[in-house]
Amino acid sequence: GNDDISPNYVPTIAAIHAGLPKDLQNPQLGIICGSGLSGLVEDLRDTVIIPYGTIPGFSNSTVPGHKSALAFGRLGSGNGVPVVAMLGRFHPYEGHSMSSVVFPVRVMAQLGVKDLIITNAAGSLNPSIPVGTIVIIHDHIALPNLTGMNPLLGPQRSPNHLRFLPLSDAYSFELRRLAFLAANKLNLDDSALAEGTYAWVSGPTYETPAEGRFLRNAGADVVGMSTIPEVLAGREEGLNVMVMSLVTNFVVIPDQYRSIRAEVKAELAGQRVEAPEVEVVSHADVLTIGKEKAEVMKGLVGQIVELRQLN
Ligand code: 6GU
Repeated sequence: GNDDISPNYVPTIAAIHAGLPKDLQNPQLGIICGSGLSGLVEDLRDTVIIPYGTIPGFSNSTVPGHKSALAFGRLGSGNGVPVVAMLGRFHPYEGHSMSSVVFPVRVMAQLGVKDLIITNAAGSLNPSIPVGTIVIIHDHIALPNLTGMNPLLGPQRSPNHLRFLPLSDAYSFELRRLAFLAANKLNLDDSALAEGTYAWVSGPTYETPAEGRFLRNAGADVVGMSTIPEVLAGREEGLNVMVMSLVTNFVVIPDQYRSIRAEVKAELAGQRVEAPEVEVVSHADVLTIGKEKAEVMKGLVGQIVELRQLN
C-alpha cells in the first residue's frame, strides 16, 4: 500500500522536538534561506539552532555560503510568531535525491507551518530587472518538471495529497500582497522589488547564451537552480508559498555572435584581432550581492510577519 512510501516523520519530529522548548515546537512560518541569505535569521529571538547532521532524514548542504542547520525562534512584535528557518538547502545538483531535497518542507508541514517563504539567488534574464532587485515570483517555468524530473513523481505519499496538483495558484496572492505592503512600510523604492517568472534549471552549470535566450523568449525573468522542488512539496502539503529571488547577476545574452570567419579574414589581410573578453558568472559575485541585500530581505520578512500578525 501507500504506507511503505510515506516518509516516516516520527524519528525526525522526535529529534527536533527534543531540542526545543514547548513554545517553539509548532512554528507557523517556515523560511528557506538561499545562498548568502542565512542572515535572514539574525532577527530571531530565543533562537535554537539544530544542525542537519543531528536530524534523522536530513542531509548536509555542500554549497559554499550555505549553512546546514534549522533555526527556530520568534519573529515579530509582542510575543511574535514561532518560526523555523532552513539555513542552507539541498539541491538536486549536489546529488541529493528529489525526495531528500523536499523532505525538510514536508517536515515543516508536520511541525505545523502554514506559510512558507523561500529565498534564492538568481540570474536576471530581463533587462528591466537589474542586479540587486528582489523579485517576488508569480509563476515559474520548470523544464525538469515537464520532462520526467518532477519532484512529485512517484506513488502518492499521503491520502491528503492531490494526485494531480494544480499550480495556477502556486504563489500565494495574499503573501505577495503582504510583500508589497511590507516594501511600502519600509519605504523601499519601487525599483527595489519586481515581479516575475522563475525558470528552474537543474544546474550545476550556468546557462549558455543560447539557453539564456531560450528561457527569456519563453517568458522567464530570472533563472536559478533551486526552489521549485520546495514550492511543489509545499503546495502538495497545503502550505501558502511565497518566493523572493535576489538578482545577483545578469545572464549574458549577446544578440550576435562574433564571426570568427570574418575575424580570420581580417587577420589574413594583416589585421590582428584580439581574443574577446567573455563575461562569466561566478558564485563569489552571487554571495557578495547576497550579503549586500540580506538586510532588505530581512526587513521584508520581518514586516510580512508583522502584517500577517495584524490580519
Ligand atoms: Cl545566471 N543561472 C542560474 N541557473 N542560477 C543562478 C544564476 C544564473 N545566478 C545565480 N543563480
